[in-house]
Amino acid sequence: MIRPISGFSKLSKKEKIDFLVDVYLGKSESKRHLIQGFWHHDQDEQKVFDEFSENTISNFYFPYGVVPNMLINDKLMCVPMVIEESSVVAACSKAAKFWMKRGGFKAKVISTVKNGQVHLIWEGEPSKLIKFFSSVKKELKKSVGPLVKNMQARGGGLVDIKLIDRTADEPGYFQIWADFETCDAMGANFINTVLESLGSTFQEMVATNLEFEGKERELQVVMAILSNFTPECIVEAWVECPIEELDDKGHDMPPEEFASKFSRAVRISKIDVNRATTHNKGIFNGIDAVILATGNDFRAVEACGHTWAARDGVYRGLTDVEVKDGKFKFSLKLPLSLGTVGGLTALHPLAKTSLEMLAHPSASELMQITACIGLAQNFAALRSLTTTGIQKGHMKMHLMNILNHLESNDEERRLAKEKFADETISYQAVRDFINSLRKYH
Ligand code: MEV
Repeated sequence: MIRPISGFSKLSKKEKIDFLVDVYLGKSESKRHLIQGFWHHDQDEQKVFDEFSENTISNFYFPYGVVPNMLINDKLMCVPMVIEESSVVAACSKAAKFWMKRGGFKAKVISTVKNGQVHLIWEGEPSKLIKFFSSVKKELKKSVGPLVKNMQARGGGLVDIKLIDRTADEPGYFQIWADFETCDAMGANFINTVLESLGSTFQEMVATNLEFEGKERELQVVMAILSNFTPECIVEAWVECPIEELDDKGHDMPPEEFASKFSRAVRISKIDVNRATTHNKGIFNGIDAVILATGNDFRAVEACGHTWAARDGVYRGLTDVEVKDGKFKFSLKLPLSLGTVGGLTALHPLAKTSLEMLAHPSASELMQITACIGLAQNFAALRSLTTTGIQKGHMKMHLMNILNHLESNDEERRLAKEKFADETISYQAVRDFINSLRKYH
C-alpha cells in the first residue's frame, strides 16, 4: 500500500524524482532518464522554469509554432502559437493567407477596464451602510494612494469604487465594486493587493464609526479578489469582403452558397448549446495558443470568454456574421484581459521571444492580435465544416501522428501518404500497412 509522504516539497529535486521513481514508476531507471531528459541543458534556465511552480521535477514540452501572413490592421505579422492539437496552426495559417488577399483582419479595442470585488457581510439596515460608504468613499480611495502610485504614473490605477447592496440575494451581503485600469499589465497582483487593502480599511472605518452601534460596527470581509469576468475589457476583430471574393481553391462551392451555409452555421451556434460549445472551443484553440505563447493566463481568458458567451442567460457562439448588400462580414467581439509586461511575459524566454516577434505589442495590441487569431481559427473551422468536412485536413495530421508513433522512416511515410490519400485512416490500417512494408524489407 502506498503511504502518504510528508515534507515532499522540502526534498531536493533529485530526492523528489527518487521518491516518484521508487513509489509510482516501478523503480524504472528509464523513467528517471526520461524525466531528467527534459531538463534544460542550461542550469540557470532550468532554475527559472523550476521556480515558475512548485514541486517541479521536469519540463513538459508543447509545440511552439507560428502563423505567418497574418495581416492585422494593415500590418503583416507572424503570430506565435503554442498548441499540441494537430491542424490548428495549419488551419489558422490557411485562413490568414485567405484573408491577406482580401484586406486582412481588422481589430479595435473597445475598452480596457478591469474589475474586482470585496465581498462583505454587514447585518444592519442597508441604507445606513450605503450612506456611510458615500461619506467615506473619498477617504477610502485615498487610503490606497501609496499602492496605486506606480500604476497611476503609468496612466492607470483605481478608476472608481462603489458599494453594491446584494442583500436581496444573500442576507447581509454587500460588495465594494472596484474598477481598475492596469495599462500593459494583466494586473492581478495589483488589483488583489488594492482590494485587500480597501476591505480592511473599510472594516476599520465601520468598526470605529461613532454613528453605528453594537453589531453595526461588525463588518465581515468574506474575501477580496479580482473578477476574471471583464465585460469592460473588450476587443472586436472582423474580416469583410464582397461575397464574390469568397471563392476558394480548397472547395468548389459557389461563393453565394458558401456565404449562406457559413451564416447558417454561425446562427446554429447561437441557438444550439452543443454546437455553441464546440464552435467556441475552436475559437479558443487559437486564442489559448497565443495566450500560452505570450505567457498569459489562458484559464482566466477561457473562464471569461465562456461567461461572456452566456451573458444573456444562454450559452451562444461568440462570432457573428452579416451577409448584406453583396458583402460578407465576419466578426468576433469578446473580453480579453491580457498583459505584455510583468509576470511570465518577462520571465519565460520563449514568451519574451513571442512578444519580440510581435514587435513588443501593448496589452491592447495583443488583445487585437489574439482576437484576430480566434476569428481566423473559427473561419477556418466553419469553412471546412460547411464545405469539405473537417476530417479531410484532420486525417492528414492524424496519419502523421500515427506514423510518428510507429517510428516510420521517410520512405515508409511517402508510401503511407500515397496509400492513404483516398483511404480511410485508422491506427490499425496504418500499422498493418507499415508492418506489411517492413516484412518485405
Ligand atoms: C477542433 O479542435 C475544433 C473544431 O471542432 C471547431 C468547430 O467545430 O468549430 C473543428
